[in-house]
Amino acid sequence: MFDTHAHLADSRFDRDRDKVIENAVKEGISGIICVCSDFDELDVFYNLLKEYDFIYGAVGIHPHDASFQDKLKEKLHQALKKDKIVALGEIGLDYHYENSPRAIQREVFKYQLALAKQKNLPVIIHSREAMEDTLSILQDEGIQRGVMHCFSGKEEDMKICLDMGLYISLAGVVTFPKALNSQKIARLAPLDRLVVETDSPYLAPQPVRGKRNEPSFLRYIIQKIASLREIPEKELSDITSQNARKLFNL
Ligand code: NI
Repeated sequence: MFDTHAHLADSRFDRDRDKVIENAVKEGISGIICVCSDFDELDVFYNLLKEYDFIYGAVGIHPHDASFQDKLKEKLHQALKKDKIVALGEIGLDYHYENSPRAIQREVFKYQLALAKQKNLPVIIHSREAMEDTLSILQDEGIQRGVMHCFSGKEEDMKICLDMGLYISLAGVVTFPKALNSQKIARLAPLDRLVVETDSPYLAPQPVRGKRNEPSFLRYIIQKIASLREIPEKELSDITSQNARKLFNL
């Protein structure tokens, strides 16, 4: 199993981070993309990349923090020079929380998409209640390599993403009984473009919903998607792991 999105440098893992990673290995996790979207966590993040050969990094200015771009851009450029940084993200638009003004979110998103192209890195896209703007910006910028993290769009949105060459990532939401749209996407997404993620420590799947999420819980997400598609779990975990390696060029 390959967890394409986990915030392992989050302070909620400070007391038992090594144990959480040990659990993941025991459960059969063979790769993790550790996403750093809080630059106060950069030191912990770099240590994880150094210490564990199967943990790779992604850095980006989150749409929540777009207002602080002047301070954050320099840190981002420094971070992108480090070893084992395999993606730029998570970046995008969040019109649900709208912690930064929408126009500034769009500006910082475009800036980072251009940067990703320049650095030849895939992007990890965060889009909440902003699918239309997200897709039109991705198309305008000619983005061809990346993943829609915790995809929440409709079938038509998925088609646009697939046409651009993007991957679709499903998280714990797919296990929630009322998440019918996410379950529909899980059935329809082409197997060669599907990846999975926990978004730890957020979004823990059933039956551990409400707890702190961790990469070992990826198995519940794999179980759910495999049952929706009526294929063996092993097949789904193998193919989503291969897809993740292809996406992040590992
Ligand atoms: Ni995230």
